[in-house]
Amino acid sequence: MKQRRLLVLDNQRLRPALHSLSLNAAELEPGAWAPGQFLHVLCREPEAHSPFLRRAMPIHRLDAGRLDLLVRPDELGHAWLARRRAGDALDVLGPLGRGFDLPGTPGHLLLVARGLGIAPLVGLADQAVAHGWAVTLLATATRPADAYPAAQLSPAIEYQVCPTDAALWDCTPAALAWADMVAAAVPPAEWLPLRQRIEAARLTLVSGFAQVWADVPLACGVGRCGACAIETTRGWRHACSDGPVFDLTEVTGL
Ligand code: FES
Repeated sequence: MKQRRLLVLDNQRLRPALHSLSLNAAELEPGAWAPGQFLHVLCREPEAHSPFLRRAMPIHRLDAGRLDLLVRPDELGHAWLARRRAGDALDVLGPLGRGFDLPGTPGHLLLVARGLGIAPLVGLADQAVAHGWAVTLLATATRPADAYPAAQLSPAIEYQVCPTDAALWDCTPAALAWADMVAAAVPPAEWLPLRQRIEAARLTLVSGFAQVWADVPLACGVGRCGACAIETTRGWRHACSDGPVFDLTEVTGL
């Protein structure tokens, strides 16, 4: 675990309730991170007391020494981050956890996100496009104004916004038949419906086909508190240190 002070390069307001905070990550060695890993960010001045706990924030993008986080100012810690300006320093731990595993042979990648759970998937989409994958991204947004902006994505990515969860799942059968790999950032309650849809579209779910980003509380972020326990075929595991990315065949207790 590495504690760092990263300087804010830019704070861009993407939507009324969504910011992209860019940090100077020149000290991060190339290859020292994987999409799906996260930073544990202190969201206050060091001498202040609230909010006490760090926030676990998926690495949204990392490119050429610049690391982006998606900030949602309707949350106490994120509200503090949304007020940061260029030159401010952030106290972060990480990158932490286990990220997505993108196979070396390119194919068709389907990304599925619930709302702004999209945060950990965009870096994976970038990496996949760079390695020759065809990428489709399905994400929900109850209003067009709440959707992740298409302009932030590579034009090579086919991006579809679905107004409801039902509409999202309606889109998936054809996409699941097309896909060689699925990465999903949806709440654990939706892992079983995802698994059932994969089995309906492809008869079986094989290891390596679908990976999920565990959207669970990552309180300590370092495997100490147990708040992020996930039941798996290997027993109980910590989402913060054994995940937050798990193979869908690996998670049980759905
Ligand atoms: S967040 Fe504390 S053990 Fe994972």
